[in-house]
Amino acid sequence: MTFEVFAPAKINLTLHVTGQRADGYHLLDSLVVFANVGDRLWFEPGPEMSLKVSGLFAQGVPTDQRNLVWQAAELAGWTGRITLEKNLPHGAGIGGGSADAAAALTALGGGAKAATLGADVPVCMRLAPTRMRGIGDQLDAADGIPPCWAVLVWPGVGVATPDIFKHLKNKTNSQMPEVLPTFQDHTGMTEWLGGMRNDLQASCEALVPEVSQALKALAGCEGAGLARMSGSGSTCFGLFKTLSQADAAAQKIARAHPEWWVKSCVLGQVN
Ligand code: C5P
Repeated sequence: MTFEVFAPAKINLTLHVTGQRADGYHLLDSLVVFANVGDRLWFEPGPEMSLKVSGLFAQGVPTDQRNLVWQAAELAGWTGRITLEKNLPHGAGIGGGSADAAAALTALGGGAKAATLGADVPVCMRLAPTRMRGIGDQLDAADGIPPCWAVLVWPGVGVATPDIFKHLKNKTNSQMPEVLPTFQDHTGMTEWLGGMRNDLQASCEALVPEVSQALKALAGCEGAGLARMSGSGSTCFGLFKTLSQADAAAQKIARAHPEWWVKSCVLGQVN
């Protein structure tokens, strides 16, 4: 019997880099939410493992053991036919292979070993707003984060996470407050988020000028409360008060930049 799983985009509303371990991995303090847009996976159990990749961003995605979904299935001791619909850009700071691997582990089991597939895989298994600390291994529910409208913009250029960390000038930045606020509405949350940061943003902007253009395009739209980059980039998000503002912003940006991937969505609610 075939079963289907959704692998939502992961958005870092904040990403503070607070230190670096002796092994090179960075210590983070990040508020992570999930979107109602994402990749889709289908699993059909059988004796042989195979992986077929379709969708807008299928090109360049490995269809063998190099794919994290394949590795996740092996970790779960599962074999069969996997179909992956790649709707999200990869090398984009919104989960990519980690989100797909997390969805596979959720569907097939084996989640206890999630971190062996990548630092972001454990958080991507949660789907609810989460505060992520350590190198991605300390996860706490972030209950006071209401769903909000957003526009995601990937400006057509992928980035490699290690490159962005390598170009980071200051690796010891402040954490978020120990206790995160509980927000009643969009305005309060957007204002508070404005006082937080993505410490990887400047590093990515220096390497990828399109990120600055995407942020500027989002900030210039009516109703944009906050424009920030997610993860190590290059996807940026804007937060909006209403669905119609988010839709209008997405249409405006997509018209001006047909080479970009632009999506309006809900953050903090995956279905
Ligand atoms: O674990 P993952 O393969 O997703 O990480 C990709 C790269 O990102 C790592 O090799 C490392 O260079 C960098 N990274 C980091 N600190 C983290 C997470 C990732 O330096 N907490």
